[in-house]
Amino acid sequence: MCGIVGYVGGQPALDVVLSGLKRLEYRGYDSAGVAVQTPDGPLATEKRAGKLANLEKALAENPLPGGTVGIGHTRWATHGGPTDANAHPHTDNATEVAVVHNGIIENFAALRAELAERGHVLKSETDTEVVAHLLADEVRELGGDTVDLAEAMRRVCRRLDGAFTLVATHAGAPGVVVGARRNSPLVVGRGAGEYFLASDVAAFIAHTREAIELGQDQVVELSRDGVTVTDFLGRPADVREYHVDWDASAAEKGGYDYFMLKEIAEQPRAVADTLLGRIDGEGRLTLDEVRIDDQVLREVDKVVIVACGTAYHAGLIAKYAIEHWTRIPCEVEVASEFRYRDPIMDQQTLVIAISQSGETMDTLMALRHAREQGAKVLAICNTNGSTIPRESDAVLYTHAGPEVAVASTKAFLTQLVACYLVALYLGQVRGTKWGDEIFEVIRQLADAPKQVEQVLETMEPVRELARSLADASAVLFLGRHVGFPVALEGALKLKELAYMHAEGFAAGELKHGPIALIEQDLPVVVVVPSPRGRSVLHDKIVSNIQEIRARGAKTIVVAEEGDEAVVPYADHLVRIPVTPTLLQPLVATVPLQVFACELATAKGHEVDQPRNLAKSVTVE
Ligand code: G6P
Repeated sequence: MCGIVGYVGGQPALDVVLSGLKRLEYRGYDSAGVAVQTPDGPLATEKRAGKLANLEKALAENPLPGGTVGIGHTRWATHGGPTDANAHPHTDNATEVAVVHNGIIENFAALRAELAERGHVLKSETDTEVVAHLLADEVRELGGDTVDLAEAMRRVCRRLDGAFTLVATHAGAPGVVVGARRNSPLVVGRGAGEYFLASDVAAFIAHTREAIELGQDQVVELSRDGVTVTDFLGRPADVREYHVDWDASAAEKGGYDYFMLKEIAEQPRAVADTLLGRIDGEGRLTLDEVRIDDQVLREVDKVVIVACGTAYHAGLIAKYAIEHWTRIPCEVEVASEFRYRDPIMDQQTLVIAISQSGETMDTLMALRHAREQGAKVLAICNTNGSTIPRESDAVLYTHAGPEVAVASTKAFLTQLVACYLVALYLGQVRGTKWGDEIFEVIRQLADAPKQVEQVLETMEPVRELARSLADASAVLFLGRHVGFPVALEGALKLKELAYMHAEGFAAGELKHGPIALIEQDLPVVVVVPSPRGRSVLHDKIVSNIQEIRARGAKTIVVAEEGDEAVVPYADHLVRIPVTPTLLQPLVATVPLQVFACELATAKGHEVDQPRNLAKSVTVE
């Protein structure tokens, strides 16, 4: 999830682009770069690893020639670590074309090989660089007296798989910036004699509030004369014009009051992005960087998952999938406890370290300890190039994009997706799952974005309920099987955000103690497993609901559509889509996030930055 800016107008392009990037830094900040058309000259570019401030410093030391047409990028690394070379813009070998990109080009490896064969020299590890080279080739092939960058872009887009927003400029097309969009955001800003392109309106709201929303699979050409939008085949396209009435800070949050709300809403996209590009040409699952030999993975006799907080809950869910699909014993442990009990590990142990930030000290220390014992470590991480993946033997990146709110939401859902993928990968290399079985789970996972979207569309009653419970003294959460970690996560969210007493329990364990907590009108959220498949789980939890209701609890039941058996015992019923049992956490967690966020807001709490907490905890 990167930030992109393009500008055509009368102002110094560099100033407009840099101020736009500043407003987009929430989308990523591990490197930044700009390209400017210079009058009668080649493109001038500069890019730097690190925050935008590094780029600004470099530009202050070595100013670029002035120009009024430019593009810029602030990066959230996906392919290739956060280095100067991997920073955008990327150019062709003659620096005639510069391009910035947000998204993942799934077929970049094949395109890269094709370009290398044609003599192109690619200098970065990114998927983006292929686009610059392909554009240069298409421009050459189109020939003519003037460069038709928009047509070149359409031709290139037709060859790309995946998700992409692209913005490009060419030295031979003065006064022109071209953009393209598929499955990734891009909006046009329309000023007086000047036009903007950006990942969101926050980048240009200081200049204009008139915007044009681009549709799926469209190419836009900006010049000072106006805006032309077509589909990828060059046919004129319909666009929607609108007026932006947000202020600048609301614009950064996409119009939401809090980053947390925005991040909850981004979950369908984040889940889809994490699934992108995971199947190779032969239908086999691929990880991002595997420095663990398949033979070593075949010999693994134990998996240990280490993580903290929300990531730990993702690990608890992963255990069910790993053991069920691979038949390898799996332990899950909070990272801060792990090394101090002298855990038993050897070369046949696979340790999975899950971390959104990649910097959590407890998790880092646990993985260092594991490697010292000879175990192999695979990281599941959201931050490309951070310490935990760097120190691991392999990594699977989640593509949630930057998570700004302290309480983790979209990172959690994408960690679940990554855990399922790792479990399937292990099943693939060890032969415990057939190819068609793996494909079937991938197909089911592909439904998840749509199902999460469905849940999000039906959350108003949950919000209303949350507001009505703002004065409750405590809330309990119950679940069985994978619903148990979901209950733990629901309780954690409420603790983090609403500062309330909230506990998650295994529903079957309730009768062994916690049931003493039940008193009249105590809200209890129950995550109900699907009645299909493992019906015994379902029947048992229905009994548990009756037990607590008989003791006065107010039951809030999260159950899949069509599950009528729970209806008589639910004071409040929250419906979630039908999913396979193991994948249910992807949909069941979402109402609990919304519930906690709304309840905390009703209590007047600052949900993005709850008291006493930090997003990334780099002390033990
Ligand atoms: C902190 C955050 C939690 C997060 C945990 C692990 O405690 O407040 O929201 O789950 O760290 O963070 P990580 O970046 O390792 O996933």
